[in-house]
Amino acid sequence: MKKYLLILLLILLSQVVGAETIQLIQDTVQWRKSNLPGYQLTIQNCSACHSVHYAEYQPPNSGKAYWDATVKKMKTVFKAPIPDEDIQPIVEYLTQNYGANRK
Ligand code: HEC
Repeated sequence: MKKYLLILLLILLSQVVGAETIQLIQDTVQWRKSNLPGYQLTIQNCSACHSVHYAEYQPPNSGKAYWDATVKKMKTVFKAPIPDEDIQPIVEYLTQNYGANRK
């Protein structure tokens, strides 16, 4: 009888462990924190259509021109409603945090 209780306990325990594993898989990737003004503008302008993974997966040596072209492409090709005056601060933030100047 004790044996069965132990097995039951083990099964219950393994399910608790399993549930914790599922929680860890949740998407926790967020825009990298920064004091630059472009940080908030990027959250506002770049979170509507896709996750931050798109920025994470860009080449780490991508320079300002690359990010400038990418942000403008989001606006012209994909019709993202990004105000013109927000583009420069966003490009600055992306270059510092996802491009050539990332730490
Ligand atoms: C209106 C919707 C929309 C918004 C808003 C948007 N994007 Fe995109 N983005 C797209 C689409 C569509 C793609 C292409 C998806 C694909 O190829 O599967 C894309 C792709 C990308 C890529 C992958 C590289 C590439 O050139 O395709 C990056 C990086 C990216 N977006 C960054 C941004 C940034 C930074 C912002 C904010 C300035 C932004 N996106 C805002 C729609 C959007």
